[in-house]
Amino acid sequence: TVLHYIHHAAFSLNDGKTTLLFDPYLENNPEGLSSGDLKADYIFISHFHGDHVGEAYAIAKRTEALIITTAEIANDAKAHGLNAHAMHIGGSHEFPFGKVKLTLAFHGSGIAGGHACGFIVHFDGSVFYFAGDTGLFADMELIGKRNAIDYAFLPIGDNFTMGPDDAAYAAGLLKAKTVIPIHYNTWPLIDQDPEEFKNVVEKETSSKVLIVPCGTRVDL
Ligand code: NI
Ligand code: MN
Repeated sequence: TVLHYIHHAAFSLNDGKTTLLFDPYLENNPEGLSSGDLKADYIFISHFHGDHVGEAYAIAKRTEALIITTAEIANDAKAHGLNAHAMHIGGSHEFPFGKVKLTLAFHGSGIAGGHACGFIVHFDGSVFYFAGDTGLFADMELIGKRNAIDYAFLPIGDNFTMGPDDAAYAAGLLKAKTVIPIHYNTWPLIDQDPEEFKNVVEKETSSKVLIVPCGTRVDL
């Protein structure tokens, strides 16, 4: 699986044939990518804040990708003529690439009546947990018990989401094999040191931390 970490909470996973794109916010991304540069077969939107929905609609319109998100955002996407699959927290669905389950996330939805979410995604033989924007919550332990997570994408920026201390505690609850820090250093308000986060997590939990620089690709 090739992981392309664009920046912030925007990344994609590709298995050689299918591209899953997550929260494609592109403003000031280090590669200077715009919506026309990205390919996607499926686009995940965790919530409707601008730094997550980002260019999702423009990319979905151009590529005809299927948007996978909560019912409220899916309804809005459909009203804009886009392909969308509505789900909600606790629900799972088998897609051609694998199973997706929506998880709790403690955060604003950014849309009337909605709720922010995270995603458990089965793809290319691995289990990925994208926490979305969230504070620390004890049910992460349940998520870890119910899913053998290979890669957990956790926000560490603080202010809007978990900071490094809470994200390190979350890593202990989730018991993911590998934790990938995201949602930091986009703006001065969420500046964090990922190396320090890595040291704490690897000292206090059984998880490894993979720091992926913005604008780079790694083979998972
Ligand atoms: Ni948000
Ligand atoms: Mn955010």
